[in-house]
Amino acid sequence: MAYPKRKQYTKSKEVFCAANNGSRTNTDMPTQKFKKNLIRVAGSLAAILLLTLITGFILLQMSALPDAINMGSDQSSMNMNGTEMAGMDKTAQPGGGTATSVTRLVEAPSQAPVKTFNLTAQEARLDLGEGKLVEAWTFNGTAPGPELRVQQGDLVVVHLKNNLPFSTTIHWHGVAVPNAEDGVAGVTQDAIKPGESYTYSFIAREAGTYWYHAHQQSFLQVSHGMYGTLVVEPKNSAAYDDRDYTLVLKEWADEASCFKDCSETLTINGQRQGLHLVAQPGEMVRLRLVNAGEDTHLPVVVGTAVEVVALDGHDLNAPTPLENTRFPIAPAQRYDLRFRMPASGTVTLLDANPGSLPANQHPAVIIGSTPSTAPSASVSQSYPDNAPQFDLTHYGSPQMPFSKESGASFDAQYNLVLGNHLGFYDRHITMLFTINDQVFPNIPMITVQPGQAVKLHITNPSDIPHAMHLHGHTFNVLSRNDKPLSGSPVRLDTLLVNPGESYEIVFVANNPGLWMLHCHMLRHAAQGMDMMVVYPNISTPFTVGDKSGNHPD
Ligand code: C2O
Ligand code: CU
Repeated sequence: MAYPKRKQYTKSKEVFCAANNGSRTNTDMPTQKFKKNLIRVAGSLAAILLLTLITGFILLQMSALPDAINMGSDQSSMNMNGTEMAGMDKTAQPGGGTATSVTRLVEAPSQAPVKTFNLTAQEARLDLGEGKLVEAWTFNGTAPGPELRVQQGDLVVVHLKNNLPFSTTIHWHGVAVPNAEDGVAGVTQDAIKPGESYTYSFIAREAGTYWYHAHQQSFLQVSHGMYGTLVVEPKNSAAYDDRDYTLVLKEWADEASCFKDCSETLTINGQRQGLHLVAQPGEMVRLRLVNAGEDTHLPVVVGTAVEVVALDGHDLNAPTPLENTRFPIAPAQRYDLRFRMPASGTVTLLDANPGSLPANQHPAVIIGSTPSTAPSASVSQSYPDNAPQFDLTHYGSPQMPFSKESGASFDAQYNLVLGNHLGFYDRHITMLFTINDQVFPNIPMITVQPGQAVKLHITNPSDIPHAMHLHGHTFNVLSRNDKPLSGSPVRLDTLLVNPGESYEIVFVANNPGLWMLHCHMLRHAAQGMDMMVVYPNISTPFTVGDKSGNHPD
């Protein structure tokens, strides 16, 4: 069967050769043709490769971020399309009329008691314990920096001196400060240059657990140590607990130069071997957990039942005691846990994040009646991966809706879909973290009208979790995966949206300004997941980009 085919082949070749070059013999024809074809194929491949390289190069160059971005005007030249539910006044649009500069959005003069703090941004070598030293950038030489403790209603005045060789700022995470005090480089101020000083002042209106951190190159600066806690104690001192401890979780890369997929050490209050805290049997203990790191952790308390009394600083209604429960705490989130010290005299807190560290390397916090002199509080206790996780959608008891925040009605709704894909960004090939398929600064801004209740429907169809944070406001969580919350109202400033989840949240537009909405896994923000929520007729004299040197992410 093969023979006639072959004959045919030879024949056609003869025709081909005769037509092209009669001087060649039939025997060297196949090699010649092969060579020609080879050259042709190689030529086309080279052309395709060249074209790809040129296209890639052009795309790479085109992905360069602009030199100067004004965050008060929409870079995408369009507003995010939402559903307007009521006939709000739309006449006041950004850019229309005379705008108020963010610099004028400060606290009004008041009689509030003044609490003054001095912070110095400086380099330091930190001892994380067990001989582990890291070069860090800090506030006042430690990470976490000093805890700022104030009373509700105080005017907090912070003088920041920058002794670092690069510029920086401070953002007051979770506090609804006036816009000018928000500390976002390129939006509310210019980054503070080396040797310069800057003063922040705002009234701490709500009690709770907050934190502060740099918001210039925040991924780099926060991961290097530029953070601390801010605790606002309630006006009513009867609400004070016998013991009130703040515990800051933070991973440190094992190699200073490593920022991705590196081996890490988890520290609590800057110590990798954990710590000892004192509490006597019968005393009421409050633990304020703050996640200043990049990973979600799963702390668990062993030895007693605990109540979750607040999330992101805001009290929950009718908390109930939970035993052996793991508390998912996403980057930037806070948990206030409360318990009465048992007669047994020992309570332990450890991180039960499966797959983070070998169980015997978990730093632990041991709470007992005497400060142990033992150098290490590490416990070899491993914690079962199947222990229940705290679920904020049905904890505590509902409260009657009493305000716009309850989400009973709202004025506008926007959909945010979180995603990621490989692409070009600022002249790099990298993973892009997207909102509605766009990256900063091309994600359309949301313009809110003062007084609106704004609903955000956030969906994460990707396989990477995100921790979405809105500046200047808190929001109420309404539902998860379309199922309304059945327990206590939950008010947060940072929402963990795990793969496959969707949430509805609502915030009331009650703090005019230009505010960021971004993922608090700060690498994600630096790679695109960052957008603006703005009020009409507010402008900023500052810009983001190389021209000003302001790089908020
Ligand atoms: Cu805690 Cu924009 O950040
Ligand atoms: Cu993220």
